[in-house]
Amino acid sequence: MKIEEIQPHGMCCSATKERQDAVRAFDGDALIVLGSRRSNNTRKLCEVAKCRVFTAESMEDVIKIKNAISDSERVGVTSGASTPEDFFAKAVAYLRRAPRHVAFIMDGNGRWAAKRGKKRGFGHIAGAKTFMRVVKWCGDRGIQYVTVYAFSTENWRRPAEEVSGLMKLSAAMLKSQAASLVKEKVRLRVIGRREDIPEDLRRGIEDLEQRTAGFERQLIVCVSYGGRAEIVDAANRAIALGAKVDEDSFAKLLYAPDIPDPDLVVRTSGECRISNFLLWECAYAEYHFTDVLWPDFSERDLDAALEDYVSRNRRVGGVS
Ligand code: FPP
Repeated sequence: MKIEEIQPHGMCCSATKERQDAVRAFDGDALIVLGSRRSNNTRKLCEVAKCRVFTAESMEDVIKIKNAISDSERVGVTSGASTPEDFFAKAVAYLRRAPRHVAFIMDGNGRWAAKRGKKRGFGHIAGAKTFMRVVKWCGDRGIQYVTVYAFSTENWRRPAEEVSGLMKLSAAMLKSQAASLVKEKVRLRVIGRREDIPEDLRRGIEDLEQRTAGFERQLIVCVSYGGRAEIVDAANRAIALGAKVDEDSFAKLLYAPDIPDPDLVVRTSGECRISNFLLWECAYAEYHFTDVLWPDFSERDLDAALEDYVSRNRRVGGVS
């Protein structure tokens, strides 16, 4: 969406007449008036606008409004009354560059369990609950693609008991979450070397992938996934096709070429590594590292990551 700031005299709302004239002259698709809905200033601005009007008193409102406006629309943003400057700046930044795709390295389950004197599996169960909450919170925030690193190609080296526990947990989650994914209209996709996944689990995954295939919002779960393995698999496909590749044609041979690259990668537990996660796709991603262990990751932590992202200046190799 193209955002235009309609603030003829800065933030101060005493310039009502000029602001009303500017709003009246705005010929875009939608207007967002930030600030108290009860103020006369806000009401008047809504009255004079010649397009669809939304009012927002909080970032939560802004996030909802963003979901109701399509990417191709021209949107004016103005302040109604007593709009704090930082709210205005944050709202505009979010509207301009809310991440479409957020990926998570869900780290710290084992340490979380150890701190409680429990086995690692206990941490994974808590981590699975956090994962489901995070999917919902991302949906509430209009994030269209969520990717999680559930099990890496290296994770097969963990003790057999932990590996089989994780597979059982995945199967149980698949069962318990299927109805809610369908209800919430979330498309499930699993990427990785799926031939490594136990057959029962694989069949369950494929069944749910088919049932949710028509939905727009997507949840991408990386299982037996490695960034290097993905690149090697794509290279082998190119060789099998006998095709010389460039960056664009090579990217089409990756596991899920239609999914836009992650804008933001969040890693919990204080580790600042990418651990073979989406190596090709994250060439220009922003990274947010937090000390919070994954089972403790909260809605507030997600918002902190999103705010961190919005505050970055993404130049993708260009100049700002
Ligand atoms: C990393 O923590 C976590 C994993 C390797 C598994 C992630 C799995 C879940 C969150 C639950 C299941 C989720 C799905 C989507 C099936 P760690 O065990 O390496 O923790 P540590 O670094 O503290 O030891």
